[in-house]
Amino acid sequence: MTITIKDEAGISGMRIAGQLTAQVLDYLAPFVKPGVTTNELDQLAEDYTTKVLHAISAPLNYDPSGRNPYPKSICTSINHQVCHGIPNDKPLKKGDILNVDVTVIKDGWHGDSSRMYIVGESSIAAKRLCALTYEALWHGILQVKPGAHLGDIGHAIQKFAEGHGLSVVREFCGHGIGQKFHEEPQVLHYGKPGTLDELKAGMTLTIEPMLNAGRKEIKELGDGWTIVTKDHSLSAQWEHTILVTPTGYEVLTLSQGCPKPPAFVTA
Ligand code: MF3
Ligand code: CO
Ligand code: CO
Repeated sequence: MTITIKDEAGISGMRIAGQLTAQVLDYLAPFVKPGVTTNELDQLAEDYTTKVLHAISAPLNYDPSGRNPYPKSICTSINHQVCHGIPNDKPLKKGDILNVDVTVIKDGWHGDSSRMYIVGESSIAAKRLCALTYEALWHGILQVKPGAHLGDIGHAIQKFAEGHGLSVVREFCGHGIGQKFHEEPQVLHYGKPGTLDELKAGMTLTIEPMLNAGRKEIKELGDGWTIVTKDHSLSAQWEHTILVTPTGYEVLTLSQGCPKPPAFVTA
């Protein structure tokens, strides 16, 4: 059980990778409209990452199981898809909610972030789910400081989500990140305060809650990647890569195009 602590060089590498990741998400935003296909978004992201940023898309051929490499450069999860949706040729339609999850490798360091995009105009319920999931992410981020525990993050997210009638997906979690895509520790989005590992300055990790409008149960589709809600209810996710600093946290995947932190963060 080893959680890597990044030194100054590692922190600089992670800052750069985080910035580039956010730039890909910014770049894609104006293309997300009714009629565009997720394969088109995937190709745009791949070209921008390689040709403009001179970086690598980590998901492409990523194969943790050793028998089912991920076939695309980004994950695109629509409506009741929870995560790891595979881009395809089906056009997005007005009212869809789309999560795009981008992971970029630059000089060996990984940045990982995802956002929700509303295609055209969506239902009030869908907008509310996206907004509340974003707030849930920030409730988790606010827990991050040396001496805090991973359980504090999970608890803050779970309490907020369930308090608003949403459910927390259990099977997928945030993670340590650095020279590897998925490092220790696991960052659960539910839990009890004061439990699990203690955070230390120099750790880098993702927080990426998946919240469902209905029940928490999920299932995997036959492609071996796409995760959907069992009850077909809508699901949303936001993800940032975070550095534990000596006094608290630094969000490494912020940019112009990402929504500003909720009011309770700056208050
Ligand atoms: N980006 C996802 C995460 O946040 C992992 C995607 S794995 C892939 O951890 F292979 F589907 F890309
Ligand atoms: Co992640
Ligand atoms: Co991700």
